[in-house]
Amino acid sequence: MKEFPRNFLWGAATSAHQVEGNNIYNDWWLAEEAGAIKEASGRACSHYELYSEDFAIAGQLHHNCHRFSIEWSRVEPQEGNFDPLEIEHYRKVIADLKSRGIQPVVTLHHFTNPAWFSRRGGWVNSGLQKYFLRFTDKIVREFGAEVKFWITINEPLVYSSHAYLLGAWPPKKRSLFETARVTFNLAQAHIKAYRLIHKIYKENSLDKPMVSIAANLQAFELCRPTLKNRLSVYLRHKLYNLYFIDELFRRKTLDYIGINYYGRNLVDVESWGIRHLLLDTCKYNHHPLRKNSLGWDIYPEGLYKLLLAVKKYNLPVLITENGICTEDDDLRWDYIREHLLQIHRAIQDGIGVMGYIYWSLIDNFEWDKGFTPRFGLVHVDYGSQKRSVRPSAEKLAQVSASGII
Ligand code: NOJ
Repeated sequence: MKEFPRNFLWGAATSAHQVEGNNIYNDWWLAEEAGAIKEASGRACSHYELYSEDFAIAGQLHHNCHRFSIEWSRVEPQEGNFDPLEIEHYRKVIADLKSRGIQPVVTLHHFTNPAWFSRRGGWVNSGLQKYFLRFTDKIVREFGAEVKFWITINEPLVYSSHAYLLGAWPPKKRSLFETARVTFNLAQAHIKAYRLIHKIYKENSLDKPMVSIAANLQAFELCRPTLKNRLSVYLRHKLYNLYFIDELFRRKTLDYIGINYYGRNLVDVESWGIRHLLLDTCKYNHHPLRKNSLGWDIYPEGLYKLLLAVKKYNLPVLITENGICTEDDDLRWDYIREHLLQIHRAIQDGIGVMGYIYWSLIDNFEWDKGFTPRFGLVHVDYGSQKRSVRPSAEKLAQVSASGII
């Protein structure tokens, strides 16, 4: 029997484009319309209409926090034109959560951009950061009094690499130079947004907010102990896992560390060259582990190792995402249980983990992978939009209710 700290945050996450449906003013929608993405998000989970029903389920599951994103392209569909009706929508979303005793954790950028922002060059263009800051200013002035936890940018390196290096997400580029530029611009945008959010709270005499990013961390492990592989693991851990956090920590712009963790990345580098060193993985079934339905390796111990790796910052940690897509709900529960045990182990070792947010509350649109991967605690029938709570969700609910696993 393991006990979690009192006041531990228990919840689940979503992001606007993946669940709301009909986000017609963003770059993803345009790419989907143009046939550049295999499946279109369409009405997704109709969460825009059904949020209250979904939050009622989260409440029954004893969640005391919920992470979601505010869709920039809804709030500002044309440059400078903020839509008061959409602001009201998100006000209701936040009020609904709070009425159920669920603390909102709000993401400001979760992979999508307003179409107008992309047309002007998106995150490659450093001159556009000011627009993200204006959006941040608007949202934080509207909702600051209701929100303590903010995530400025979700998985900045996943965004820059998928959109600018791997050519998988809009704008589908393959340029190391642009990837570096976008990454740099996202870091700058966070730093400025962090300062802005704190300034607004101060001006309004609000209690200090907790502001961070959600960093995707991967357990990079050696397939074979060759020199190339060792160098690669070292580089990926430094650049991919820690670069962003290091930089933001140095600039004193993190109140906590938000970690999204899914599993292991088994490194096996074919030949020298920066792309190989940064991207190659083992193509064979060496050192097999259980996998999710997208083939990602399940490796709970990796989370423990990464939590130890961020201990040096001496900041609180929030697991802002951890989850599995699978058709096998028993495996989902094993995945959750084993990760919770590793988190508990890290807490025993003195790491200040504040909470656990499962990805995702409901099945949803998994970007370029479409609707097939099912990450939800709650199953969604995309035909009828009917929700069904999975047994793993009930098991997690017992842990959230008691604080004991
Ligand atoms: C990370 C992302 O933030 C989220 O959008 C995605 O659906 C999950 N991981 C699963 O891949």
